[in-house]
Amino acid sequence: MIYRLGDFHFPDAPARLYPDTPGRPWMLEIGFGDGRFWPHYAPTFPETPNYLGVELSGVSLLKAHRRLTEAGLGSGLLTKLPADVLLRKVIPHGALDRIIVNFPDPWPKAGHTEHRLLRAPFFRLAASRLKPGGEVLLTTDHDEYFDFAVQEAHASGVMAVQVGPPPAAALETKYAQKWRDLGLDAHHARFTPTAHAPVPHGDLRPYPEDESTVPHAVLTLPATFAPTDFDKVTVRSPHGTWTVILLDLYGSLRRDGWVTLAHVVEGELTQEVLIGITGREDGTHLVRLAKFGGPIITPGVKAAVGAVTQWLEAQGAVVRHRGY
Ligand SMILES: C[S@@+](CC[C@H](N)C(=O)[O-])C[C@H]1O[C@@H](n2cnc3c(N)ncnc32)[C@H](O)[C@@H]1O
Repeated sequence: MIYRLGDFHFPDAPARLYPDTPGRPWMLEIGFGDGRFWPHYAPTFPETPNYLGVELSGVSLLKAHRRLTEAGLGSGLLTKLPADVLLRKVIPHGALDRIIVNFPDPWPKAGHTEHRLLRAPFFRLAASRLKPGGEVLLTTDHDEYFDFAVQEAHASGVMAVQVGPPPAAALETKYAQKWRDLGLDAHHARFTPTAHAPVPHGDLRPYPEDESTVPHAVLTLPATFAPTDFDKVTVRSPHGTWTVILLDLYGSLRRDGWVTLAHVVEGELTQEVLIGITGREDGTHLVRLAKFGGPIITPGVKAAVGAVTQWLEAQGAVVRHRGY
């Protein structure tokens, strides 16, 4: 099953995600590629564990979905997100039995190590989301990244490291086969939490049923308001936690109103959201986050509604109410 960010709760719960098997072990695979690992790994358990796979590539997501469905593993959940966002926002504290990372992108060039997944902050986040006795399994062909990950795990102060042979299924992935054909060996390590400091989930919620709680503003536009031009607007939070870029403004042919397209970046989470500016019967206009695309309400998305409101104020609008 494919889940979008908006399909999750923040944090979510196995009882909701796997209603038929909530008590089974919960395993997260990061960067599942074309999905070959799980159909080899799942049958090594007496009962299929609950599976969640996270991947950045949309093409890989579709390939893996087909593979899991064909293997009768369609109850596993796949999502296209950065792993950090999923772990931080969706996975509750102390919930996962295992986090599996096979052949992560090595970012081999000097100066690119900050792009690597397995750095100390990742290990601290992973430790807070694993159950007592849980573990992170890493398999990689890349000598330097392997040593780097082991050092980062030690530096995190919350992980013990054990080096050993990889599970057989990790040697069946596309990248395992690719490196084997080149004569390269795989390294494997098991990282087990020794302590954990709780890493907060953050302020984030799905689009609510009750639209009155959606970020919005009510304002009166000047009688002359008829935009023919729109320059991109960029707003950054004072603490650098979000950036909002208002990219464009579109007029509605059917209704008295417009729609703004906003790009919202908060750490690794990026959302493109629409913010409507719609005429109301009393002559005022409602500025409100649109439901289209399943946006998640975050501080940055609220700020985007604020940025549209402020842009309208700069055009002469008078704000009657702010709800963001
Ligand atoms: C080298 S490939 C390995 C794929 C697969 N595990 C295999 O062994 O064939 C690394 C994968 O990790 C994914 N990836 C990289 N960074 C990620 C992140 N932050 N969150 C989720 N997936 C990520 C990439 O899109 C890519 O598909």
